[in-house]
Amino acid sequence: MKFKFFNKNTDKEVKIKENIPQHVAIIMDGNGRWAKSRNLPRFMGHKAGVEAIRNIVKECNRIGVKYLTLYAFSTENWKRPKEEVDLLMSLLLEYLKKEVDELHKNNVVVNSIGNIEKLPEKCQIELKKAYEKTKNNKGVVMSLALNYGGRDEIIYAVKKICARVKNGQMSIDMIDEDMIDKFLFTAGIPDPDLIIRPSGEKRISNFLLWQCAYSEFWYSNINWPDFSPKDLQDAIKDYQKRDRRFGGIK
Ligand code: FPP
Repeated sequence: MKFKFFNKNTDKEVKIKENIPQHVAIIMDGNGRWAKSRNLPRFMGHKAGVEAIRNIVKECNRIGVKYLTLYAFSTENWKRPKEEVDLLMSLLLEYLKKEVDELHKNNVVVNSIGNIEKLPEKCQIELKKAYEKTKNNKGVVMSLALNYGGRDEIIYAVKKICARVKNGQMSIDMIDEDMIDKFLFTAGIPDPDLIIRPSGEKRISNFLLWQCAYSEFWYSNINWPDFSPKDLQDAIKDYQKRDRRFGGIK
């Protein structure tokens, strides 16, 4: 596969190819500000945000990112006005209904993380259908974080582990990092190598709290609807210059 954004020096290209982050996670922020700056209702910002998703998923597939996790709705987003929550849910439904065939054609696995039982039933049904249809695909695994909160996820894992200890299925000594990983919504997905947050904010906002222990962060002032494949390439190029030591030394 050719990566147009890398230079033609073959050695360098191979090296860069080898250093593509396996898992990119994105906090899709700035939809509201994007709309406001154009005198549009906030909803239009979210709609434009869906367009950005489409392009970024394609780019991840093209350059060989294996996992893409998108923060679409947090456990705290329920605090927004009901109309906005309802609109986000209907956008999600429309996205799944309209785009799953195309995503399937592009070899994408449509996954979700978060406590989806609290989403409207129609959304849950479409999410399950999308996953069933695409689960054997070999392209990028796109996980939509929906009603997702890092703390909520940890509580959920702790409860499950405690229940197993209580009924004798497990001993306390068996609890280690790998064990906890298995009880998270992200079980089976490697930790994010690169976390991107556009829109100028520089905080983690309850996203992948356990998993981000050694993630590299990349911020930009671009609002999510304007975030293009070129911005993803810039983030990856910057990531490729980082020296990841995971607490060790070189
Ligand atoms: C943050 O921007 C964005 C969200 C809370 C929702 C993200 C949703 C989408 C991109 C579209 C719907 C998703 C799918 C999967 C169909 P903000 O509204 O907080 O922006 P602001 O900080 O500028 O107000």
